[in-house]
Amino acid sequence: MIRIEQLHVRYRTERGEVHAVRGIDLNVRQGQFFTLLGPSGCGKTTTLRSVAGLERPQEGEIIVGDDLVFSQQRKISIPPYKRDIGMVFQSYAIWPHMNVFENVAFPLREMKKRVSQTDIRSRVRKALSLVQLEGLEDRPAPFLSGGQQQRLALARALVKEPRVLLLDEPLSNLDAKLREETRFELRELVKRLAITTLYVTHDQLEALTMSDVVAVMDQGRVVQEGTPLEIYRAPRDRFVANFIGLSNFLEGRVQKTGQLGEVETPSGTLKCVLADGITAGEAVVVVIRPEDVNLNAGPASQNENILEGKIEAVVFMGDTLECQVAVGTKLIRIKLHPSSPVARGEIVRLRLPAESCHALRA
Ligand SMILES: Nc1ncnc2c1ncn2[C@@H]1O[C@H](COP(=O)(O)OP(=O)(O)OP(=O)(O)O)[C@@H](O)[C@H]1O
Ligand SMILES: [Mg+2]
Repeated sequence: MIRIEQLHVRYRTERGEVHAVRGIDLNVRQGQFFTLLGPSGCGKTTTLRSVAGLERPQEGEIIVGDDLVFSQQRKISIPPYKRDIGMVFQSYAIWPHMNVFENVAFPLREMKKRVSQTDIRSRVRKALSLVQLEGLEDRPAPFLSGGQQQRLALARALVKEPRVLLLDEPLSNLDAKLREETRFELRELVKRLAITTLYVTHDQLEALTMSDVVAVMDQGRVVQEGTPLEIYRAPRDRFVANFIGLSNFLEGRVQKTGQLGEVETPSGTLKCVLADGITAGEAVVVVIRPEDVNLNAGPASQNENILEGKIEAVVFMGDTLECQVAVGTKLIRIKLHPSSPVARGEIVRLRLPAESCHALRA
């Protein structure tokens, strides 16, 4: 539904050129919820604005549906209003001098082909009911709560029933509780309407909970693309592992390859899953998630690593207990059940299942 090929966007500034997007390829299928996830400044908004037609890339092609909407080579650039796309901007950009009804009606009034008053009324009503803002038509937009303003921006993006929805950090202005509720509502809504959605966020939890596919971006490039589970369970490199969730990193060198490899680290030799193409002798970093480390007593099973360490810190987080365990010179973070009977200073045996230890190229 949305195809991006070899997209490059450069901005000219007084202090030289900013190469904001550096050769991005994406393929978003019909009805998919697809998320661009990455730290501030990695080029998410620039990519989204290029799809909307608000940015003019220097290279590449963009296809929406069956339409080539941008091609540098073929000198094609369809203007934004002809792209049949709805967008919610990073700041909602609702019009403060208009009431709720007029905010949603605006895109319809702007259309080249005149829409009748009756049609406008019924389409605005439908869009407002989708986001549960019925009854607030006459309210001036600034007198809505943050969550309501966010939904108003969404209604305005949906009123033309676009084939594609672009959402740029639409939940970032909401407080934590509301954000969590709205996450599920928003995903339900676009899935119900079967709209192809390209979503932008720097919040990994949003990306993991809402998306069918996540593309992790860093410095203008996509560094990994996959389902939330793939991205979380098998990060391809240290950047992704670090950005998505909390991870422990143990540097080492590969001693043995095979179905399970062996990596020698200063904390001990670890059996682990080697990333594709890693060979014996190579420098690697072994990644393990805090929730995959256990403290249970008992003998080691065959595919388990056991490390001895000392609990240095215990922090109660409500639903978990986070501990830092010193293993040699390394601090390993682990997550335990909140009622686990552990105390600072205690000597413990950490159990690291081999299949949860991923060796990536260092
Ligand atoms: N109009 C502009 N002129 C010059 N540089 C720009 C312009 N817009 C963005 N940039 C730069 O391009 C890079 C990518 O910006 P972009 O807004 O796409 O990032 P982002 O991933 O959306 O970040 P954030 O999460 O902070 O919104 C940044 O280095 C930014 O400073
Ligand atoms: Mg942005």
